[in-house]
Amino acid sequence: MLFDKFTNGAVTFANRIVMAPMTRCRADHRDAVPNDLMVEYYRQRAGAGLIVSEGVPVSDRGRGYLGTGALWNEAQAAGWKKVTDAVHAAGGVIFAQLWHCGRIAHSALHADGSRPAGASWRPATSSSTWIIADGKPALVPCEPPEGLSTPEVKDIVQQFAHSAHMAKLAGFDGVEIHGANGYLMDQFRCPVLNDRADEYGGSLDKRYRLLLEIVDAVALVYEPRRIAVRQSPYGTFNDMEPDPDPLVTYPYLAAELDRRGIGFLHVFDQGGSWIHDPAHRLMPLLRAAYKGAIIACGGFKKDSGEAILARGHADLVAIGRPYVSNPDLVERLRNGKELARWDADTFYAGGAKGYTDYPTLAG
Ligand SMILES: Cc1cc2nc3c(=O)[nH]c(=O)nc-3n(C[C@H](O)[C@H](O)[C@H](O)COP(=O)(O)O)c2cc1C
Repeated sequence: MLFDKFTNGAVTFANRIVMAPMTRCRADHRDAVPNDLMVEYYRQRAGAGLIVSEGVPVSDRGRGYLGTGALWNEAQAAGWKKVTDAVHAAGGVIFAQLWHCGRIAHSALHADGSRPAGASWRPATSSSTWIIADGKPALVPCEPPEGLSTPEVKDIVQQFAHSAHMAKLAGFDGVEIHGANGYLMDQFRCPVLNDRADEYGGSLDKRYRLLLEIVDAVALVYEPRRIAVRQSPYGTFNDMEPDPDPLVTYPYLAAELDRRGIGFLHVFDQGGSWIHDPAHRLMPLLRAAYKGAIIACGGFKKDSGEAILARGHADLVAIGRPYVSNPDLVERLRNGKELARWDADTFYAGGAKGYTDYPTLAG
């Protein structure tokens, strides 16, 4: 099944393997424009049924790391256009992952020196990020955020809509809205962090209002079947508190996405554990609430990927780290070939090493 074609009527993928979104920090630090090295990296991986790009900041204040290729102006879109052209020429399909880091950031990353944007003032006390200090990259703690005012929250919806326009200009086949991993949307979802008194805080529907307003705004740019939304149930990365009621929270969102005809719900298990358990209740609850395609991610290999498709808990399987070191991953899995091991030291190191220099089996 992993190697079967997928279509939802709007997009067609050659197989059911998705290259998971992975920040690799190779873009220019100042203008966040994608470069030729990134074109080559994505071109090499075009054999995936779908590539979800690295997280792409929608605005300058949405940046949380050095070297992330962004999408808020036409120069950035022109840089990404070279990437999408190369992927399309190689027969692939690529979505942009639209991203706002929220409190996982530092004012040194923002052109106007603004503090990180938060659902509230609560800091991520044990998270770090890279900034340029004294001309060199330096690992520093994230700065305490400023809680966003209500008009500022509404402006973020417009930033996503604008960025979706830029994604279209850049030739992306669709977009994924990054609602996972402790970044801004996940911070709004979290009842511990989000103590807002306005219409974006409090009850579950209000905590998901920002994400759903973004979905609605982006759906005016891309048709709903070309949109994915990523969530990370039970996730604690980036100082997140586990959701107190996941079997209610995530099916609620799934039903809201279903109502809007959104094409993909991307579910990432950060620990790579519960999603592999056939008896765990969450995936069947999501399936019952949502008729679009479910993408499952977190520690998948060929057998576990086939297994989750066979039990009907997902339609597509996203694979991350093995894609770093195996540009021809689909062919290797199809032919039962050995996989090359990734080098985590080069994930964010910049340059070609550990990025575009992993060979294919064909050499
Ligand atoms: C280097 C690296 C960068 C990542 N960057 C992102 C990102 O930008 N957006 C995102 O949603 N997840 C990101 N992730 C998480 C991956 O999408 C994926 O969920 C994770 O690697 C688990 O899948 P795996 O077990 O197949 O590697 C990143 C993971 C890695 C290893």
